[in-house]
Amino acid sequence: MTSADAPARLLVRDLDQVVTPASGVAPLRGADLGRVDVLEGAFVLCEEGRIADVGQMADLGVLEGEVEELDGRGLCALPGLVDCHTHACFAGDRAAEFELRARGAGYEELHAAGGGILSTVEATRAAGEDGLREAVQRHREWMLHAGTTTFEAKSGYGLDRDTELASLFAIKAEGGIPTWLGAHAVPPEYENADSYLDFALAEVLPEAAQIAEAADVFLERGAFDRDQARRYLEACRDAGLALRLHGDQFSEQGAIQLAVELGAGSVDHLEATRDEGVRTLAASEVVGVLLPVAALVLGRPMPPARALVDAGAAIALATDFNPGSAFCESLPIVMSLACTQLGLSPGEALGAATVNAAHVLGRADRIGRLAPGYDADLVLLAASDWRHLAYHVGGEVVSVVVQAGRPEWRR
Ligand code: NIG
Ligand code: FE
Repeated sequence: MTSADAPARLLVRDLDQVVTPASGVAPLRGADLGRVDVLEGAFVLCEEGRIADVGQMADLGVLEGEVEELDGRGLCALPGLVDCHTHACFAGDRAAEFELRARGAGYEELHAAGGGILSTVEATRAAGEDGLREAVQRHREWMLHAGTTTFEAKSGYGLDRDTELASLFAIKAEGGIPTWLGAHAVPPEYENADSYLDFALAEVLPEAAQIAEAADVFLERGAFDRDQARRYLEACRDAGLALRLHGDQFSEQGAIQLAVELGAGSVDHLEATRDEGVRTLAASEVVGVLLPVAALVLGRPMPPARALVDAGAAIALATDFNPGSAFCESLPIVMSLACTQLGLSPGEALGAATVNAAHVLGRADRIGRLAPGYDADLVLLAASDWRHLAYHVGGEVVSVVVQAGRPEWRR
């Protein structure tokens, strides 16, 4: 998407490094995931919102006509980061719950007592259309400042017709990629998950499918069981939506097998996944989306990232940004955790938060790499070595963010 006032041409010149996941068929697997091309003393030329050329300064010819220039000395250029799993459409906060959990209360226990996700449902229902739009806009800005140029966001805090549709609409209006998480929790006005699904599939799905690109379900004890998840996902698939699952967060309930059986695009979380799940996922086309902030915040085991990559599974990394388990919009922090807690290399973390995340969103041909023809979405780091993105934990390392060929934000 090229905004009206985007410069027709933008030259980012004299960059210390231009860094991109190496070419390869997405999703990148095994040794391909960590391959990174690094050009020293380089430039990126953007035209009409796309990347026109990438190369070394010595090879930059004379550019005729009008070109806006951006001085890249002391900076590294990387592809704009892609957050393929967020819950960015919510109102209110859960600071009080955060304190309760800090004092020892359990996340699942709070949910079972009507708190947790359901307390955010109450606040989100009360926010109104404008309030939801403002919330997504605010969260989108936070993500942008951390280097995210493409984000997916789920509904799932409305769980009534109007709020679910307003959530999807707000996400799309703010430039996000909407996912209908109609099966996130059973709202209090329904007796059980089946009667809630009767309502959601009959009354919400037909319109949700017009706005969303994918559907998602929380397959977990205390949320939706495997049969309910299958019923929900099959109906969503028949309505034309891509499929995703929250699975193996606290317990293995067959989410990976169901994802494979239904041809889902991803199964997300996997903190509880054991060897058989790793093997099943590796032998499939389904991407495992790893969310290490949620594991960290809830004190859960980290997902078996190293085993997954070594077995040949495709993985992506995402924030899971939400007010409960992961109030963190920063993919650089996720990449730090990937390197220190998941056993991934900086190159693997980069591939997982760009190309492979773009694949989950069906956009790997357009975003996630710095190469001619790709969208001109760039992060410029205030460092001479791109690995500072993950190395500097929570550092203010993102200096400029270029979106569709336009410098959208500077620190
Ligand atoms: O992915 N586990 C389910 N959903 C979210 C958390 C939602 C919340 O706590 O509000 C997750 O972690
Ligand atoms: Fe999530």
